Amino acid sequence: MHLLKSLAITAFLATSALAQSIVVDAPRPGANIPLTSTNLTVQIERPDTLSASKEVSVAIGYKICDVDEGCGPGAQLLYNGPYTPTQHTQTLPGQPSFYQKFTFPSPFFTPGPVEITVVHFFDIGAGENIPFVETVNIDFNIV
Ligand SMILES: *[C@@H]1O[C@H](CO)[C@@H](O)[C@H](O)[C@H]1NC(C)=O
Repeated sequence: MHLLKSLAITAFLATSALAQSIVVDAPRPGANIPLTSTNLTVQIERPDTLSASKEVSVAIGYKICDVDEGCGPGAQLLYNGPYTPTQHTQTLPGQPSFYQKFTFPSPFFTPGPVEITVVHFFDIGAGENIPFVETVNIDFNIV
């Protein structure tokens, strides 16, 4: 009985956490972003979900990667603070409606592969008191 109950709770939490997963709308994986871009915009979408959850914060970092050796362990931090997505009018079906855009002066000075890491902190559960963390990596190219 206890096992079943805890399995049910685990499944519920996993589903709720999944329902809260962010999507990085920009940059897109595999995108080619010109070296001449002055700004880097990271747009983070949150699903418009009914499950009880509370946004806490995001951390955004980047790594300069190597074509042969991939991305190293340490990331440079661009942002670490509140995540407060707001509702936007959808002009096309399928467009995101809840998102926040973060704009940074482009930190990239040479062409090549790079990676953005977004760490998303949020609380779920009826009391919005169960902390979750998810990490999303986006690999793209500076050209
Ligand atoms: C870059 O970002 C700054 C600050 O948000 C903004 O004022 C400027 O217009 C942006 N430049 C471009 C080319 O988007």
